[in-house]
Amino acid sequence: MKFIPPKSIRWKVGLPMLFVGLVSGLGVGYYTYKQEVDNAKLLAQEKIKIALTFSKASRAYVREVLRPKIDQLLASASGCIKEDFILEAQSSSFFTASIFRAVSEELPDFKLRQVAFNPINPKNNPDETEAKIIAFLRQNLAKEYSGVIEKGGDRYFFYASAVVVESGCLKCHYSIEAMPKALQAIYKPTQDPKWEVGKVQGAVVVSMPFEKVILRAQLEGLKNGLLVFGVFFGITLLLLIVLDRLVFRPLELLERKAEEIAKGNVDEPIEIKGEDEIGRLAQAFERMRVSIKKVMDLLK
Ligand code: HEC
Repeated sequence: MKFIPPKSIRWKVGLPMLFVGLVSGLGVGYYTYKQEVDNAKLLAQEKIKIALTFSKASRAYVREVLRPKIDQLLASASGCIKEDFILEAQSSSFFTASIFRAVSEELPDFKLRQVAFNPINPKNNPDETEAKIIAFLRQNLAKEYSGVIEKGGDRYFFYASAVVVESGCLKCHYSIEAMPKALQAIYKPTQDPKWEVGKVQGAVVVSMPFEKVILRAQLEGLKNGLLVFGVFFGITLLLLIVLDRLVFRPLELLERKAEEIAKGNVDEPIEIKGEDEIGRLAQAFERMRVSIKKVMDLLK
């Protein structure tokens, strides 16, 4: 099939304009959509990093301030205080998990896990994905690691920080024998944790559901993308309508009038107003019609 170029200027101008409007509308619309989704990913990473920073700060506070203070008190306590360990104030993991539980009530998307191999609390045993995160931190001697993980068919954004064993940790995380008696009574450990100083033993992991964040961003992106496309395409259509009113229609009218004059019908005036090129052309035609009419009247 041979391509027949359109005969009218309306199509010669209109088709390319529509094409450009469509392509640029789609292009900018898609860019807007993609931008929205990319921003949501960045924002999610930022948010979980903040949550992780708070968790780390909370752990450090227990380790550096609360635990030593309570240790001191317990050492000097006599008589009335029988415990050698106060879980709520001396375990940074317990303390941080409790705070995070309160945070999760307000922000249910965020999840915190403090995991380690050979844990005191069996619930803190790393699952398969968490074990992979710890392995990565170990292999790369990295302090932090972030990205997207898959768990039970769902994807999650995560931010993880390495848990490195210090000598102070061994008091509770080395052997059952060395653990405070009150701690033994709570957890009833069956084997020695045997953590080694300097080793990446576990990780603090904050995560957030990926699909939920992305779906929200995709919907928002689609809305904004369509809006931008609509504006681009709408402006093109508007331009075409204006051109049609100002140029193409008056030209067609002039064509018809010229045909009429050619047939000898010179009585009807050409009523196209305006000071622009088309208007002036129409007025020239009108003067021509009047002149022809005069000549024809004379000849009668
Ligand atoms: C005074 C005792 C004590 C000391 C010292 C201590 N921890 Fe713990 N730690 C605990 C207890 C108790 C738990 C279990 C809390 C729970 O139920 O989640 C725990 C849990 C953890 C967990 C989660 C895995 C697990 O074992 O259940 C990590 C990770 C952890 N501690 C890291 C550390 C690090 C790192 C240090 C040293 C900088 C340290 N802990 C020092 C008492 C201690």
